[in-house]
Amino acid sequence: MYEIIVTGTDGSDTATEAVKAAAALAVTHNADLHIVSVVSPMSAALAAQGAPLPPNWTESQHQEAATALSRVGELVRDLGAKVHEHALDGDPATTIIALAERLKADLIVVGNRGMKGLGRFVLGSVPNRIAHHAPCSVLIVRTT
Ligand SMILES: Nc1ncnc2c1ncn2[C@@H]1O[C@H](COP(=O)(O)OP(=O)(O)OP(=O)(O)O)[C@@H](O)[C@H]1O
Ligand SMILES: [Mg+2]
Repeated sequence: MYEIIVTGTDGSDTATEAVKAAAALAVTHNADLHIVSVVSPMSAALAAQGAPLPPNWTESQHQEAATALSRVGELVRDLGAKVHEHALDGDPATTIIALAERLKADLIVVGNRGMKGLGRFVLGSVPNRIAHHAPCSVLIVRTT
């Protein structure tokens, strides 16, 4: 039923749970699993607030994202999924939606919370925006 699944990780343990759920579905459906890790350009926003950024901040963000991506990629390859990894820049929700459009994905899988963990709200901003704007079905895995 599903042929192309897109899932996102911000490197958090909860996102890993969502990616594992996506991988289980991908294996069941013999689908291609595209894992995306998006680095958002926070530097401008932080600079506007007067927050000092280390000179290699962007570089270290990319490094962390690449490490998280390959770690989770390896994990779900072991489950037998056909994995493709995407390290992208931009706003996470917008970028995940754009990738799903470009790949003609039929399912997006994300966790209900990410890096910020348990908060006041059940949904993080990424699943919230994806639920509203996705070009395909969406699975929000309850990871918290
Ligand atoms: N940068 C990202 N790249 C790829 N996927 C992401 C990214 N950020 C979040 N996601 C996906 O969205 C899910 C929920 O994360 P989200 O960031 O919305 O929650 P949060 O960090 O708890 O809250 P906030 O809205 O304050 O960031 C994650 O489990 C992951 O699947
Ligand atoms: Mg977040």
